[in-house]
Amino acid sequence: MRVLLTGGSGDLGQVLAKQLIEKGHTPVALDIQPAKTLHGEFIQGSILDREKLPGIFAGSDCIVHIAAWHGIHEFRQDKDSYDFFDLNVKGTFEVFQAALLAGVKNIVFISTTSVDEPDSYYGMSKILAEQIADFYFRKHNLNVVTLRPRAFIPHWNHAVYKSYVEWAKWFWGGAVHIDDVAQAVLKAIDYVSSNGQLKEHLILPIDGAYEYTDSELANWDREGPGSTFRKHYEKYIELVESKGLDPALKPRKLAISQTRKHLGYEPTFSLGSLLRELSEQKD
Ligand SMILES: NC(=O)c1ccc[n+]([C@@H]2O[C@H](COP(=O)([O-])OP(=O)(O)OC[C@H]3O[C@@H](n4cnc5c(N)ncnc54)[C@H](O)[C@@H]3O)[C@@H](O)[C@H]2O)c1
Repeated sequence: MRVLLTGGSGDLGQVLAKQLIEKGHTPVALDIQPAKTLHGEFIQGSILDREKLPGIFAGSDCIVHIAAWHGIHEFRQDKDSYDFFDLNVKGTFEVFQAALLAGVKNIVFISTTSVDEPDSYYGMSKILAEQIADFYFRKHNLNVVTLRPRAFIPHWNHAVYKSYVEWAKWFWGGAVHIDDVAQAVLKAIDYVSSNGQLKEHLILPIDGAYEYTDSELANWDREGPGSTFRKHYEKYIELVESKGLDPALKPRKLAISQTRKHLGYEPTFSLGSLLRELSEQKD
């Protein structure tokens, strides 16, 4: 399959392109800038280029619409309200309209759990973008799956995380690894491409794997601070404390039963995986 990735030079696009090649597909990254390492084809261009977009999309079997400014850009005030509207809202309209004109029926739209933060420009822009995706599903019968990952900036993005420990401190609160997000996207590509006309626009949250059970989370640290952590990861306690990580911090876990059911998504990277990597002194 020829899979067009908008924003394909970014973190997710790069991980996806590599995995798509491994599966025998042809990824085509459309981005305003090239990736550090090229996987697959690259087209330098913008999703806001109304004239050229249908021609760029033509012949694609599926589009993964990734390009957007996101939480980090709002947090750091790198991008303003106009930037968020132009790329995330108008850009999403341009992508769906061009897909329609180009005859590309299958689209995986990357949204975010930040739709639960409607008072942020990012949240607002993705709420509107999801509505655009839904419109093209309902009115034009495009096959659309929307994925809502929680934050997944990888530890190797050193513009954001200076070290593995800094990334670990963020992951600690509950998170998803970028490889698991890529797994969900690959499964969503298969889903939109192999189920004929979809009857439903699925909107699915993406979270990581957890060793903690729901019951342990509900009864967090009943036996004292750090006690739940120790039940699973006792052998790492010294390492964790030496790195300034807090064993008493309770992670927030998302409900992903629908994602499991529809896509067969099964996240693999957990706090246990992180601790193994940390003990291998990634830092
Ligand atoms: N990174 C996260 O933690 C996270 C969490 C939840 C959802 N998301 C969503 O995932 C997607 C991006 O994730 P990422 O981590 O790969 O981001 P990223 O910032 O690494 O990549 C985004 C890419 O979009 C490109 N881009 C910007 N303007 C463009 C334009 N006009 N046309 C084409 N490309 C353009 C950028 O050059 C960049 O390469 C976004 O839709 C975001 O909302 C991200």
